[in-house]
Amino acid sequence: MSKKDLNTLGYQNAPNIVVTPPGPKSKAMFQKIQKLIPQELYGLGRTDISNIIWESAKGDTVRDVDGNVYIDWTAGYHMANAGHSPPQVVEAVKNAISKIINTANWSHELRYEAAKKLLSISPSKLDTVVLGGGSGTEATLAAVEAARFFTKKNTVISLYTHYHGQSTVGQWWGRNINLLAAPSCNCDNCSFNLEYPNCGLFCAEFIEQVIKDQTHNNTAAIILEPWARYHGTPDGYLTKLRKVCDDNNILMIADEITCGQGRSGKWWACDWEKVVPDIICSAKGITSGLQGNAIITSREIATALPPGSQVHSYAANPMTCAAIISTIDLIKELDLVNNAHVVGLVIRKRLLELQSEHDRLGSVSAKGLNVGVGFVKDGKSKEIDMLTGAKVFTKWLQKGVMNYGFTWTTPPLCLTKEHAETSLDLLEECINEVEKE
Ligand SMILES: Cc1ncc(COP(=O)(O)O)c(C=O)c1O
Repeated sequence: MSKKDLNTLGYQNAPNIVVTPPGPKSKAMFQKIQKLIPQELYGLGRTDISNIIWESAKGDTVRDVDGNVYIDWTAGYHMANAGHSPPQVVEAVKNAISKIINTANWSHELRYEAAKKLLSISPSKLDTVVLGGGSGTEATLAAVEAARFFTKKNTVISLYTHYHGQSTVGQWWGRNINLLAAPSCNCDNCSFNLEYPNCGLFCAEFIEQVIKDQTHNNTAAIILEPWARYHGTPDGYLTKLRKVCDDNNILMIADEITCGQGRSGKWWACDWEKVVPDIICSAKGITSGLQGNAIITSREIATALPPGSQVHSYAANPMTCAAIISTIDLIKELDLVNNAHVVGLVIRKRLLELQSEHDRLGSVSAKGLNVGVGFVKDGKSKEIDMLTGAKVFTKWLQKGVMNYGFTWTTPPLCLTKEHAETSLDLLEECINEVEKE
């Protein structure tokens, strides 16, 4: 499909701000919702962003209840990889659930097709799929459990700044059990005060030390986001970490829930280094945002999980399977993995230009449509400046680019080059305005 066709997926007049967001209808609706459901539990936090009530979304655009149309740099929460509410996926899901909504622990034909489709985009060494029906968090839990049963070891290492959901696997909420947090591969703010590439990727070597000294070789796995959301991953890191895992007989779990499914410009971010993890965790973009997840692994690791351990009411249900099949088909049909790569390069180039002109634009990381933009107090100290970031991102939103309000963005993979360029023109305007202020 040609570039022109991608331009027809979204609302045609984006961005179009008719009233400064959040507009009156958004504010009123937000207040009604807040009375019944404490919205702060859902994390966006800032009133300028969380008070915007989405009405509908198409392709790479979103419309709010006040009639504002935005270019979307969130894909929901990195979910609408194939664009928002793609008609093909909606149709496939409707067809599936009109026959039967759920078969629970009985199987159905779509399970086979969904597993086959997932394996068709994954490294050939991985030959087995465990399909879930819930969140990304549940995929990481299944992966960690599989690693523990397979290795008969207990500890799992995760990395600072990497996110794995709301459970014992994530170290963000202090609920970690048998989970060790180790320094990440953060070249913007290196834990060891070293410079890439002269550092020789010491952060990967350090993991080996953690395995030996702190877990007494009781480590089952290391879990990581292969493209680290806020700062990216230096070239060679995954390869080195794979070797550390092999040398120490531990499994490598690639949590590709956000950076994968085509977002990095390859189906999986690990593909960039041709690294084959032992387990890939997938969710979000793989179903176009409907509930459902998968781990993709080997027969031996999958069957180390005890029989019956993946019984869930919604596991591998027809809706999830239909969504997986049609989403992968659509991403292929629209050539969206390549679009993510090409448009990602345009964005990266422009952001680096902006960085060279603006001292406060401290960090830029972009691999496909995983895009990080961080502001600092000054170019020399590189001290993170959340306040400047918040000001710029709020202005960006008010000019018509939907974003999370902080460092990190994840547009739909069908973001057009034109929309990317318009968004970056607006970002430049915002940076100039904040600098003047
Ligand atoms: C990399 C990664 N892993 C796991 C999760 C958890 O997924 P969920 O929110 O569906 O539980 C997320 C969610 O943002 C994620 O980005």
